[in-house]
Amino acid sequence: MAASSLIPPHGGTLVNRFADADRARELTSAASGLPKITLTTKQACDLEMIATGAFSPLEGFVGKADFESICREARLANGTVWPIPITLAVDDATKASLSEGGQAALFHGDGTLLAVIDVREIYPHDKKLEIPNVFRTEDEAHPGVRAVLDEGPWLVGGPIHVITVTPQVEPGEQFTEFRLPPAKTREAFAAKGWKTITAFQTRNPVHRAHEYLTKCALEICDGVLIHPLVGETKPGDIPADVRMACYQVLIDNYYVADCTMLSVMPGAMRYAGPREALLHAMIRKNYGCSHFIVGRDHAGVGDYYGTYDAQKIFDDFTPAEIGITPLKFEHAAWCTVCEGMTSAKTCPHGPDEKVFLSGTKVRELLAQGKRPPPEFSRPEVADVLIKWATSEQPVGA
Ligand code: ADX
Repeated sequence: MAASSLIPPHGGTLVNRFADADRARELTSAASGLPKITLTTKQACDLEMIATGAFSPLEGFVGKADFESICREARLANGTVWPIPITLAVDDATKASLSEGGQAALFHGDGTLLAVIDVREIYPHDKKLEIPNVFRTEDEAHPGVRAVLDEGPWLVGGPIHVITVTPQVEPGEQFTEFRLPPAKTREAFAAKGWKTITAFQTRNPVHRAHEYLTKCALEICDGVLIHPLVGETKPGDIPADVRMACYQVLIDNYYVADCTMLSVMPGAMRYAGPREALLHAMIRKNYGCSHFIVGRDHAGVGDYYGTYDAQKIFDDFTPAEIGITPLKFEHAAWCTVCEGMTSAKTCPHGPDEKVFLSGTKVRELLAQGKRPPPEFSRPEVADVLIKWATSEQPVGA
């Protein structure tokens, strides 16, 4: 099967903003004479997503017309669905060094030259417009709101020309073998002969409800792409390398290899609930997936969003303009009477019969070296987490 018979990318064309070797050399020598912008972790994640086409049809950081239209309508200025502005915020001093019509060199925090941006626009960062529209709250305690508040007061818009996105992170956290750009997942799906693929976004260690959702989806699709987000997450979330070890041990023991693929999604988490669920779906469409799992409180944090708000937002758009099919799942849990994973749609028993564990309770158990019940977490996964939680200094704990 040809990769072209998979779902088309969002906006119709898979973007690739990598410069070829000759152009990369030219950009590198020109960069030394350009104003410099050092990217935050979130911006560096966004750069990789734009470069690889995971954010197609974006070719760079958004300009003012797109920014305003995205915030107000969850659409680009040309009407294409796009729920969260992908921005390059800078401070006053950096802004003073830039000029519209010029270029700037974009650096990783460790000093690596990543890309050059054509500075088409410099405009005020309208946080009063962005925050309530994107996050549905202005509470400064919300981690996504906090991140925007901490960003600079100016936005730089324009296309990027990328030299490298190689993340300068600790060895073992790059997940090189799993870091497939959309063109490569598309090739892999075609090679496997998969036509319908469900994507599963996750930022947490995998538990039985996650397994249930992906396996229900597998009943109606050729394959599942387990696609954990490994870009920036908030302090307190479990580190990506620990989560990756969980997914691997689960897949090795409980999934059918021919129907399952594990790859990473290098985007940054925004915790924007409904708007982010839509973004996560558009991203997976670019990776070639036809279906996308949206469960309870997808991409939510605290109690900012209703349990199914992230599912409802898909109804604000036509199926044709979204393209990818959302698979909406009820809150799933093990029922001790049914003796299986269930939801309110499949099980008549009440909450007292369900195995629910809070995140805090799970952390407590793991820190004591105890496995959560097997109805909540597979023992192999629990053991990976216990090893992390009982190590000297569990990062993220
Ligand atoms: S998220 O931030 O990536 O959404 P998480 O990794 O916990 O967080 O969830 C991954 C996906 O599984 C999301 O679609 C979420 O809605 C869904 N999900 C997680 N737990 C459950 C559950 N118990 N029942 C139904 N859906 C769930």
